[in-house]
Amino acid sequence: MNSILVTGGAGFIGSHTCLSLLKKGYTVYVLDSYINSSPVPLQRISIILEKENVKIDDKLTILKGDLRKESDIKKIFEIALKKNKPIEAVVHFAGLKAVGESNKKAIKYWDFNVLGTISLLKVMEDYDCWNIVFSSSATIYRPKKNSLMDENHELGPSNPYGVTKFVIEKMLNDAFRSNQKWRIINLRYFNPIGAHPSGLIGEDPLGIPNNLFPLIMQVAIGKINEIKIFGKDWPTKDGTGIRDYIHVMDLAEGHLKALEFLINEKPQICNINLGTGIGTSVLELIKTFEKINNVKIPYVFTGRRKGDNAFVVADNSLAQSNLNWIPKMNIEHMCRDGYLWQINNPNGYLK
Ligand SMILES: NC(=O)c1ccc[n+]([C@@H]2O[C@H](COP(=O)([O-])OP(=O)(O)OC[C@H]3O[C@@H](n4cnc5c(N)ncnc54)[C@H](O)[C@@H]3O)[C@@H](O)[C@H]2O)c1
Repeated sequence: MNSILVTGGAGFIGSHTCLSLLKKGYTVYVLDSYINSSPVPLQRISIILEKENVKIDDKLTILKGDLRKESDIKKIFEIALKKNKPIEAVVHFAGLKAVGESNKKAIKYWDFNVLGTISLLKVMEDYDCWNIVFSSSATIYRPKKNSLMDENHELGPSNPYGVTKFVIEKMLNDAFRSNQKWRIINLRYFNPIGAHPSGLIGEDPLGIPNNLFPLIMQVAIGKINEIKIFGKDWPTKDGTGIRDYIHVMDLAEGHLKALEFLINEKPQICNINLGTGIGTSVLELIKTFEKINNVKIPYVFTGRRKGDNAFVVADNSLAQSNLNWIPKMNIEHMCRDGYLWQINNPNGYLK
């Protein structure tokens, strides 16, 4: 499999994955509406590759289009056919991801995430393309005590965003049951952070960030005054919530490994966690960021946030054994690379 469609390839994880795919010699087709991104990261990818002396010639094709429109998806499949490099697999990132917004605009999330995926699967069937790596999320798990979550952990998403990921996984299961040509991997990400070490591409949230790490980065450059830590009485080592942060470049690598697995193994559907298996508390993340980057991150404690959990950390043994994937970067790398991206791009991709 050499020609890959990346939906949402201009986004945070998508752009880093496109970079890794191109570096590995894949032909990459991107379909993105830029609803939560812009064309700039894809231009920056070419700059990074040029600096690294990697020639991509015409291996990157970008189409602005909406995944909910079958006609847009067909357009990119047709472009690939004309180039004589038909799309053989899809890495499917495109979708909306803000948990808070999904509580207020549930139908919008079903529309973008579920309808978008239905359109994609229909067109894939039409073009005889049966290989897909889907961006799922650890939010589909129902967190329990302080134990690592493996892929058999009980499911139970607590917000509409998580529900859309859950139903897409169910739909993909049905797709496989109805036609065993499908090769499907649901990658359940934990907390992707950091940036490419060049500082040229990174996470660029629109408006005020929802997640802790982008907030820390914006406090570090003085755009936001302080971090609000939701709760200091969680049953954890320092009373703050523990999460499994994973460097976005390790995550990108996980997609390459997933594609290799799809080609080499028999048709199947499987669910695989991508996390480091290491838990880091809010305070530990802040302290590490301060130490590595020599900056001060002021914070205040407020009450617990509804729906939050004490401990969400992956058991990543399946990714290690099946995909031969082992994360290489630690929390210090994540803080270093994230900060470099943010100081070089205080306004994100906007000048
Ligand atoms: N970042 C995280 O913390 C995280 C965690 C778990 C899972 N995920 C999932 O990973 C995927 C990528 O996340 P990300 O952080 O890169 O998000 P992102 O918002 O940066 O990227 C998503 C991309 O999809 C595009 N897009 C959205 N709807 C589209 C549509 N209808 N048609 C075409 N393009 C569309 C956006 O413009 C954007 O470029 C998402 O599906 C997300 O739910 C993300």
